[in-house]
Amino acid sequence: MNVGVIGAGYVGLTISAVFAKWGHDVYCVEKEYEKVKDLKAGRIPIYEPGLEELIKETQEKKKLIFTTDLAEAVKACHLLFIAVGTPEGPNGEPNLGFIEQLINELVPLITQPKIIVTKSTVPIGTNESIKNKLIHAGVQSQFITVVSNPEFLREGTAIHDMCHPDKIIIGTDQAEAVKQLKELYKEINAPYLITSVAGAEMIKYAANSFLAMKISFINEIARICDAYHVDVTEVAKGIGMDPRIGSSFLQAGLGYGGSCFPKDLKALEYAAKQKQIDPHLLQATQLINDEQVSLYGQKLKESFPNFPDISIAVWGAAFKPNTDDIRNSQAVKLINLLTRKGCRIHVYDPVASLSLQDVTVHSSMYESIKGRDGLVITTEWEMFHTVDWTLISHWMKGKVVLDCRNFIDPLLLREHGFEYVGVGRP
Ligand code: UGA
Repeated sequence: MNVGVIGAGYVGLTISAVFAKWGHDVYCVEKEYEKVKDLKAGRIPIYEPGLEELIKETQEKKKLIFTTDLAEAVKACHLLFIAVGTPEGPNGEPNLGFIEQLINELVPLITQPKIIVTKSTVPIGTNESIKNKLIHAGVQSQFITVVSNPEFLREGTAIHDMCHPDKIIIGTDQAEAVKQLKELYKEINAPYLITSVAGAEMIKYAANSFLAMKISFINEIARICDAYHVDVTEVAKGIGMDPRIGSSFLQAGLGYGGSCFPKDLKALEYAAKQKQIDPHLLQATQLINDEQVSLYGQKLKESFPNFPDISIAVWGAAFKPNTDDIRNSQAVKLINLLTRKGCRIHVYDPVASLSLQDVTVHSSMYESIKGRDGLVITTEWEMFHTVDWTLISHWMKGKVVLDCRNFIDPLLLREHGFEYVGVGRP
């Protein structure tokens, strides 16, 4: 099938490469000329395991082409995926500027029937309004079918998630659109849920909100565990054994960040308030998450009598492992907090780059800890599991290790003479 994908961000690049891997002919449209030039040369603007290789491979097989020419893609493809950004607006509502711009550009180009499939996370009613705006601008109504087909891939495991989804949500009342999408996804073995357009839009927000809520829930439990000297990792394991609860997204720590959860929770809160609904749970989820940064700042303060006159290594800037993405990173928020308080901060992250005033960034993990009073681990990169703690203990001046992701074995650190500090980890 010929498939147009508009937008070469995380979602756009991943779905383009995977559709091409499945044998479809993909036109990925991106406005930025320089980005397209880089992509054609096999250079991708993000760190996502396996994606660069897949893009190179599918380009070589002539299954994936990058272009700045929207008209070329619209002419060639019956299926057009919207994967442009919907960043956070000033009051929490998503900024739909890129979608509005795209609608205007599509108007003169749609002269034959097209199925417009939205992957971007958009407020309830957006797909309907895309259709109405196109018709209002003169496109013939029989040429447009809009479908909401939300994506559930995670950064860091994007290709795997797209190839092995637990479900495919298709929001449309058009049987032909369902047929076309089933053909597109025929490589995938996952159940379908065919629902209304607005239902699919809502499913995406509700899914992200529920996952964020699980994280804030376990973070609240971790605070209580901390006060009663109970190990929250054991509690998470115990409750996770109940299939009604499930074991995923119960890793207590610094909280959630990234380009999705923070933005989507605010957007859903905004949407609820527009209808005079007070979304208490969404608000509590966000409040707990915001407080996590100062909670860990306080833990560090309590570990040093001479706080803030301390020199600290921070391992991790990315909002999660296996990505270079620092958008809404809780690690960066903690670094900023500690710097504001007057601590001297030395950061190491294996892939994310950071440039902050008064923060020293190191390219070597071991260099970053030399002579430091303490170590704060903010992102659970796999490599931090296999560090040589004897060497670290030899090079560090102090002995405090604040594990903001509860992922290092406290016993192991104590055996090496460190003072292990976590939340809910006696
Ligand atoms: C999230 C969803 O998981 C995807 O299903 C969705 O498609 C995506 O948003 C999106 O809307 O595009 P992502 O933001 O890439 O994916 O990352 P997650 O793995 O969900 O992690 C989000 C944050 O939660 C990270 O900061 C992570 O460190 C934190 N987290 C996750 C925890 O603190 N504890 C956990 O147990 C799990």
